[in-house]
Amino acid sequence: MSANKIIVAIDGFSSCGKSTLAKQLAARIGYNYIDSGAMYRAITLYFLRNGVNYNNHDEVVAALADIHLTFVFNEHAKSSDIHLNDEDVSLPIRDMLVAEKVSPVAAVKEVRKFAVAQQQKLGRKKGIVMDGRDIGSVVFPDAELKIFMVADPAVRVMRRFKEMYATNPHITIDEVRHNLELRDYIDSTREESPLRQAADAILLDNSSMSREEQLDKVIGWVKERSMVSA
Ligand code: DC
Repeated sequence: MSANKIIVAIDGFSSCGKSTLAKQLAARIGYNYIDSGAMYRAITLYFLRNGVNYNNHDEVVAALADIHLTFVFNEHAKSSDIHLNDEDVSLPIRDMLVAEKVSPVAAVKEVRKFAVAQQQKLGRKKGIVMDGRDIGSVVFPDAELKIFMVADPAVRVMRRFKEMYATNPHITIDEVRHNLELRDYIDSTREESPLRQAADAILLDNSSMSREEQLDKVIGWVKERSMVSA
């Protein structure tokens, strides 16, 4: 038996623990991890900094032509940092200001076309774990392993709150809850590739699962799908 490299697509609502799982999984199986949400966040950051009106088609098209996104491996963090026109923007893309605008920006057709084309390029050689909202349904419809993550809303709010509190001690639980509810609504009701569980995706509810439990489960699924007879 020998292992074939596969594509692992992980989708789900915000703060279900997708990136934690994807990052751990990629490190364990020696794959690249790509956070597709970071791309939409970096585009949003560029729009905010440059006063781009995401409702104006021409402004959006002109801005996208000036945006160059790359993932640079960070040896210390054992994951990739996103660079926007050669600037590491891993931290500023986590700001509340970006979180408040990213869903409407990610709903713009031209923005999605731009990001999806780059995501597909990154997956050409397989051996990749990518998380997002439309990875199994649109970006890699033929991915060998598709996972759709869900978690109890209260658990998600507390997870995101703890994450944001580390860099912004003024943030409140209500602000985080409101932002998550709004993003869930926009992400799942937008016209362009709304958040949906792909028909062949495995549902993973991790509300009461430890990180180790979920990682073991998923590694089992990867093994099943990547082992082929020699
Ligand atoms: O995963 P995240 O919370 O960092 O994603 C930020 C936003 O980007 C989220 O509100 C929806 C959008 N997104 C998307 O539309 N498609 C993806 N593949 C990934 C993220």
